[in-house]
Amino acid sequence: MLDVTTDQIRVFLHILAATVWIGGQITLGIVVPLLRPAGTEVVHAAARRYQMIAWPAYGVLLVTGAWNLIDADLDAMSDMWISTLSVKLWLVLISGAAAFGHQLVGAHAGATDDPDRAKKLRMFSGILAGVALLSAIASAFFGVQLA
Ligand code: HEM
Repeated sequence: MLDVTTDQIRVFLHILAATVWIGGQITLGIVVPLLRPAGTEVVHAAARRYQMIAWPAYGVLLVTGAWNLIDADLDAMSDMWISTLSVKLWLVLISGAAAFGHQLVGAHAGATDDPDRAKKLRMFSGILAGVALLSAIASAFFGVQLA
């Protein structure tokens, strides 16, 4: 068997957290439309359960991402590497902010009595969910470029 190194553990945890953050969003996006006929309570319960692992995974991405940077010799990196990193970090921020916004707007949509307003809020919430997912996927791609 090969030796296990701390480098491998660092990258493994980073990728594991990325699979939870990205894969969970994709899975929830597939499952939620199927759950809708069962009522909003069921949809909210599924979303809340996902949030219980999604935000810790996002935290692990931030911590292991910082660990990646501590381990990288930033002075030796090219300007192109640094600009790819900064684009990646903006995408990470956008993904977290859009996911948080999606949660807040979704909660407002569920709480309002006005069906027109609820429809508009749900549409906006869906756009935010799309932004959260696409920016996370792009962030993973730029991460692979950095590795
Ligand atoms: C949405 C959040 C994030 C996702 C989905 C993500 C995903 C990934 C993936 C898939 C890789 C490739 C790993 C490999 O092939 O070895 C990677 C690498 C990397 N990530 Fe992230 N990441 C995220 C957040 C962060 C953050 C917050 C930082 C910095 C604070 C960061 C810094 C890095 C660095 C420096 C690498 C290269 C690691 C190496 O040299 O092996 N990432 N990321």
